[in-house]
Amino acid sequence: MAKFPIDFLWGGATSASQYEGGHNEGGRGLSHMDFIRRIEKSDKDKVFPINVTKKMFDDHKTHENEYNFPFRRGSDFYHRYKEDIALLAEMGFKTFRLSISWSRLFPTGLEKTPCEEGVQFYHNVFQECRKYDIEPLVTMIHYDIPVYLTESMNGWEDPKMIELFVHYTKFLIDEYKDEVKYWITFNEINMIMNSSYLGGGMFVECSDKPAETCIHQALHHQLIASALTVKYFHENSKDGLVGNMIARLQNYPYTCSSKDVLATQQQNQFNYFPTDIQVKGYYPASILNYYRKNNIDIDWYPNYEEILKEGTVDFASISYYHTAVISSEPDKQEPIGAFIRNLENPYNEITSWGWGIDPTGLRITLNDMTDRYGVPIFIVENGLAAHDQITKDLKIHDEYRIEYIKAHLRAIKEAIGDGCDVMGYTSWGCIDLVSCGDAQMTKRYGYVYVDADDKGNGTYKRYPKDSFYWYRNVIKDNGADI
Ligand code: BG6
Repeated sequence: MAKFPIDFLWGGATSASQYEGGHNEGGRGLSHMDFIRRIEKSDKDKVFPINVTKKMFDDHKTHENEYNFPFRRGSDFYHRYKEDIALLAEMGFKTFRLSISWSRLFPTGLEKTPCEEGVQFYHNVFQECRKYDIEPLVTMIHYDIPVYLTESMNGWEDPKMIELFVHYTKFLIDEYKDEVKYWITFNEINMIMNSSYLGGGMFVECSDKPAETCIHQALHHQLIASALTVKYFHENSKDGLVGNMIARLQNYPYTCSSKDVLATQQQNQFNYFPTDIQVKGYYPASILNYYRKNNIDIDWYPNYEEILKEGTVDFASISYYHTAVISSEPDKQEPIGAFIRNLENPYNEITSWGWGIDPTGLRITLNDMTDRYGVPIFIVENGLAAHDQITKDLKIHDEYRIEYIKAHLRAIKEAIGDGCDVMGYTSWGCIDLVSCGDAQMTKRYGYVYVDADDKGNGTYKRYPKDSFYWYRNVIKDNGADI
């Protein structure tokens, strides 16, 4: 029977924009995430608040004092980091994934020197982790960019972003390299293809380029910025490791007809190519061919081939929530604009938000990535969102979450038995936070309940759920009972 390695990094994950709060404290500038508002009924109507257009953005600015912007509040980690890290320590966390808010350090993104209060805040957080032997796993950018860069240069569409970002990441490496061993450059770098505002901090309708070209151009800038960061990291960090990160969607053909299999293979190219570039150091032929066929003309960054080759990562990390089903038949394809392609899979149960539950898909994914890349893999997001209920005696009985995570951990253990090198597992939103897609507090993932609702009402007090005690035992036994 396979075992989890003795140094397996058990933990949980968060992001600054969804968790930190304190949006107007310590000299922090606003981020583009701070302009995403909660739109009620979004679950039902499939309105994704993160798909912000220029028109919506202008409206949000005009009504800044009236609208509900949950990302500004997060879960108030800014004031409660000591209490939260103590809770993570109580669960026995080996690692804690968090991201740094770029605008907390460089409020507009243009400053040459960082804001001291922001710098100190992250020192405090890392020191607190170290106190309990928790290794921070730090994402340099988890979507949020200083909003000034969205407004002044249409975010990642502009190649100047590369220089600004690398200025920021070089600072992070120089300042925190003795406190942080594990780093990730971009969260879900592929997500810009699903939401250009979320992933790129930009409005495609404001570009002179066709929408798809604008997106792939911005992604090119991000890939260059990531590679330059990785190179600098390797030259300056002694024993740290740096990884990439994508939202991993394992695609299945709708039928075994070769047409559906081909459509699936083509869709997979989109799944693979950012990791191909970040792990292998070059654009694969299939995506270059796609660009040619679809008249996507990229302004290639000078010496980009060399930069990508020199900036390959040490490990590949993924978020894994569900798999997708692909059909070649137009009437079975998801409409353009759907957040992710996700035809119903009759073999999977679904969550309250319609996400298919597929632990075996994770085993498939891990094997697939192992064969393709041969670098260690880190699962840095996975988890079950639910409408948790708190009882009168302040308990949260979330056995459904335990079942979900147990099944996924079992799949990881089996993949390890298959020969996959898996570094660790950080489940998403280990302490409840604002959901990204729905800008909603009541879509909960955590082991710890935060008493707050979608409008920000509540005490923000923390309450361990049943899964808290269960996960503590899992970590204690290094997953022996999984
Ligand atoms: C990932 C993101 O895509 O999915 C997280 O990296 C996000 O930021 C998570 O929160 C879950 O999605 P959601 O929409 O349920 O919050």
